[in-house]
Amino acid sequence: MDSTKHTRIRLGGRSLDIVAATAPGPVSGGTSGGPLSDIRVVLAPLCGITDAVFRKICLDRGADMAVTEMISSEGLVRNSPHVRSIRGLDMAEGPLSLQIFGADPEIMGEAAAILSGLRPRFIDLNFGCPVRKIVNKNGGSAVLKNLELLGRICRRVVKESGVPVSAKIRSGWDKPTAVGVKDIARTIEDAGVSMITVHARAKSQAFSAMADWMLIKAVKDAVSIPVVGNGDVTGPNSYFEMKAMTGCDAVMIGRAAIGNPWIFEEIAAAVDGRDYTPPSFRERVEGLLCHVRSSVRDCGEPLGIVSARRIMSAYLKRLPNAREIRSKIMTCTRLGDLTTTMDGYLRQIEQESASNTHAVAGDTGMSLC
Ligand SMILES: Cc1cc2nc3c(=O)[nH]c(=O)nc-3n(C[C@H](O)[C@H](O)[C@H](O)COP(=O)(O)O)c2cc1C
Repeated sequence: MDSTKHTRIRLGGRSLDIVAATAPGPVSGGTSGGPLSDIRVVLAPLCGITDAVFRKICLDRGADMAVTEMISSEGLVRNSPHVRSIRGLDMAEGPLSLQIFGADPEIMGEAAAILSGLRPRFIDLNFGCPVRKIVNKNGGSAVLKNLELLGRICRRVVKESGVPVSAKIRSGWDKPTAVGVKDIARTIEDAGVSMITVHARAKSQAFSAMADWMLIKAVKDAVSIPVVGNGDVTGPNSYFEMKAMTGCDAVMIGRAAIGNPWIFEEIAAAVDGRDYTPPSFRERVEGLLCHVRSSVRDCGEPLGIVSARRIMSAYLKRLPNAREIRSKIMTCTRLGDLTTTMDGYLRQIEQESASNTHAVAGDTGMSLC
């Protein structure tokens, strides 16, 4: 198991204390004994959501690895005060992959060199982001339009990084085709990248269409490095379907984990053939509060509560009378008020549930944090 140490990295004139792993991630390729040998399900990078708190919660609930939200290579190298994504980075959280974006091979290489000093499992390259301000600077999914640039970025990062490099792609820029996505994947593999994640939608599709898993299969057939499938996996059924349809080596889950970190336990139980008991109301409420408490520990009040609002809504989606309680807690700015409100709500739904013969599985009384 990796041990950890505090490391001070310099970003321009500023230095930053980060908890780094002392042992590097594995470097070999292939699926047995390679970089994915112990990884079945990965938490996707979700900008604005997969902060340190959320990553830790998902890793504790069975995600085998978490990818950070994208980090600007320019910001990192030029010491922008706004490189928010690396706040709270702690390699002791569990297996982490640090994702960077940018279009300049040299700067991407420099950023990879800085971050690989922290010994993450992977440096991950973002070739999927569709956001205008990023693609307008030729970053994210825009790199997919230029295979020559794609190859140069990958080669440079592989050269500069002291840990394995992975790339996360969309299936194309405009009209995704099996030929197009295979060319992209081969360019990445030829440049020495150790793993590819395929979000099976083109940039032009945003999130409008269903992910086309056959394009994940096309990549799997085209390369010999491990392939992670991504797009629309929402539980054990779709996990098994994606694995069977594409032959991918691991599966990445994004939106379905928001407010439902138990999805990782559920899939792990299904894979191992173990029984799985879904979380009770109490566990879901405890999960929500645990999340907010960690957020407040990191950012203080009221910021920690305000920044967790989106996540709170997602937790509530799976609970009764969600609309009513949501409107009450969205005005809370103090942890004490939020806890009191949620306690009252929990008592109410537990009473209703007890008097309902079709009640959801009972409360285990388990405290999550
Ligand atoms: C709010 C949000 C933020 C995202 N941020 C990133 C990001 O920083 N880097 C990245 O590679 N993908 C990002 N993605 C894409 C996801 O990682 C993932 O590829 C996509 O949501 C499809 O997977 P899913 O169907 O499991 O959600 C983001 C998606 C969403 C919805």
